[in-house]
Amino acid sequence: ETFDATSLHILPGAIDVHVHFRDPGYTHKEDFESGTAAAAFGGVTTVFDMPNTIPTVADGETLKAKHAIASSKAHVDYGLYAVLGEDTIDKVPELIEAGIIGFKCYMGNTFGRIPTPSTGAMLEAFEMVAPTGKRISLHAETNSVMERRQKRLTESGRNDPLAHLASRPAVVAVEAVARAAILAEWTGARIHILHISSGAELGPLRDAKARGVDITGETCPHYLMLGEDDYARCRGIIRVNPPVRESVNNEPLWAGLLDGTIDMIATDHAPHTPEEKTRADIWSVDCGFPGVETQMPLMLTQVAAGRYDIRDYVRWSAVNPAKVWGLYPKKGAILPGADADLAFVDLNHAWTLRDADLQSRSKISPWDGRGVVGLPRHTMVRGRFVMKDRALVADTKGHGRSVHAIQQMPEAKPLHTDETMAAVIAHRPEAAA
Ligand code: NCD
Ligand code: ZN
Ligand code: ZN
Repeated sequence: ETFDATSLHILPGAIDVHVHFRDPGYTHKEDFESGTAAAAFGGVTTVFDMPNTIPTVADGETLKAKHAIASSKAHVDYGLYAVLGEDTIDKVPELIEAGIIGFKCYMGNTFGRIPTPSTGAMLEAFEMVAPTGKRISLHAETNSVMERRQKRLTESGRNDPLAHLASRPAVVAVEAVARAAILAEWTGARIHILHISSGAELGPLRDAKARGVDITGETCPHYLMLGEDDYARCRGIIRVNPPVRESVNNEPLWAGLLDGTIDMIATDHAPHTPEEKTRADIWSVDCGFPGVETQMPLMLTQVAAGRYDIRDYVRWSAVNPAKVWGLYPKKGAILPGADADLAFVDLNHAWTLRDADLQSRSKISPWDGRGVVGLPRHTMVRGRFVMKDRALVADTKGHGRSVHAIQQMPEAKPLHTDETMAAVIAHRPEAAA
């Protein structure tokens, strides 16, 4: 068999650290087969799947069942998240034993209605996870604020897509990022801020990094490229948590990526059916939309436009996700599984994104009709093509493997302890007097 890569660039396959493949429980929206097919078409060779499936991934048995599903259906490699919440703190050891890539903590309510932990429960959960070295990814929006806002908006009869944005203002995320960073600082837990949607969140993120907190962040194409002007065009389709914000946020988010405050691009691939996305009552529209297969073309379009270099893109799409989750080979070492996960891309190919062409079961997104430059032509996972010439390769269902087995995350240490606090108090002037 011959293979011609003339005019193609070979990039590391993207690692999308934030997808919802809905399996088990919501397979009418997506399953591990359709979701990983979408990934393969997007040049994505590894995905980290979120735990808001049914039942919620919060104990070892549920996780094992999900592993069985994923390993039998996946075209690409994957990691599985487990929920870290008020009632699951004592499940940390069995979840790690059953094989997770990391924990997910829901500070704000979103699809699946997973209960949000109190600050006290978060502190205990962080203390429990820190010595394990696993990273905790946070949906950082403060629930109590949003619920009060939404109540007032619905009571005043608002039922337009922009009311959803009004119910979740940026301060909700800013406060949650700052609070999570403080808990990480005092427990040593490694944390990751999911779906950064506003320029304002960069303040507490940057401050925490400067204090030495092991904190990382991601943003998504929709926060970089969409704004309030897209609400009228997209109606309920654009409803996502956190919301797409005013377009004044786009440039600060790009700047945050370029200066390293934001570490990576993820998609929050959140598929729902057209019926679920177009309900008349805006408050009952399911939040999120597919993204795993459109991220690379959307981002490469900006390379073609000269906004940044292909090496910047590779850092955000593959290198930093691998480093942050302990999948990056140490110098001189060969890490099994890190070999030949590749996207073969045509950087000059101009085409148009069409919802109808998506591999995802959710053929409805804000990107329909958008012109892009850059096409993933073939995708290889561990040396084997899973997508070739824009077609799925036969018999690659079940080729995907969980990457938790090759993850290396050393124990984490807190920057401060209660003894540090005692020392600080002892040095206060009134204590000395
Ligand atoms: C996600 C989903 O549908 O699972 N929805 C969303 O709007 N982003 C959940 C989430 O990431 O908050
Ligand atoms: Zn979320
Ligand atoms: Zn999500």
